[in-house]
Amino acid sequence: MKLAGESGFDPAVGAEPGPVRIARMEPADAARLVPVHLKAFAGYLNVRLGPSYVLRFLQWFCSEPSAIALVATSGALPVGYVVGAPADYGRRMSMALAPAVAAAVAMRPWLLVSRRFRNALVGRIRAVGKRLPAASVGGSESSPARVSLVGVGVAPEVRRSGVGSGLMREFEKEAARRGFDGIRLTVYAANGGARRFYERHGWVASANGAGETVEYTKVLKQPL
Ligand SMILES: CC(C)(COP(=O)(O)OP(=O)(O)OC[C@H]1O[C@@H](n2cnc3c(N)ncnc32)[C@H](O)[C@@H]1OP(=O)(O)O)[C@@H](O)C(=O)NCCC(=O)NCCS
Repeated sequence: MKLAGESGFDPAVGAEPGPVRIARMEPADAARLVPVHLKAFAGYLNVRLGPSYVLRFLQWFCSEPSAIALVATSGALPVGYVVGAPADYGRRMSMALAPAVAAAVAMRPWLLVSRRFRNALVGRIRAVGKRLPAASVGGSESSPARVSLVGVGVAPEVRRSGVGSGLMREFEKEAARRGFDGIRLTVYAANGGARRFYERHGWVASANGAGETVEYTKVLKQPL
């Protein structure tokens, strides 16, 4: 299925010659994007849970009707993706993926030795029972509906060639087309590269971030 406004553009550098195409992510793309995710997010919690978990994570965004999931392809190769969902997605996703998390930890019990890993896992479990502050979710007359950009990742070999920017533009267009008024995301404060990328795209750091993370928001222009 094609995404409304599917786009193609020529990056300055590509994994393969030819334009990078951005389209809706299908389940078959999710499987092919696992290696991209493993490289883009090396060391992150999802990656430590292993490729099977990463596949379930990406597939969730393909199967969830309210989610936005896009893939960037260069030639025949998937080189990047962006996923997001209405800002209160966390609880639903954590519940859907709980069996996959349990299976991943059962196969890698040594992960529990790391305090950092345990803390991250406990944070995820708590998120199941926690609701975001109304100001983050929106959805009333005074506080419009927001979509969370959950992750954007580009294969290291094609970074700084415009792939991430192309994904971001299409994500914003699709979110506006679906009637969202704003986007939010949470990023590790230490992820300077990603923070500069978001700021370059007009995102503004808000005061809501806590501890190791920073929350960014962006107001969306509605399509004419
Ligand atoms: C963040 C990320 C998606 C950017 O993708 P990309 O394809 O390299 O981005 P672009 O080429 O479109 O970059 C656009 C602009 O953003 C800024 N930018 C992007 N990456 C940057 C970096 N590492 N350091 C500083 N600025 C950066 C630059 O201004 C860049 O323009 P320029 O190359 O002309 O200077 C990519 O680096 C990535 O996958 N990182 C690992 C995963 C991650 O941290 N994701 C974000 C958290 S969910």
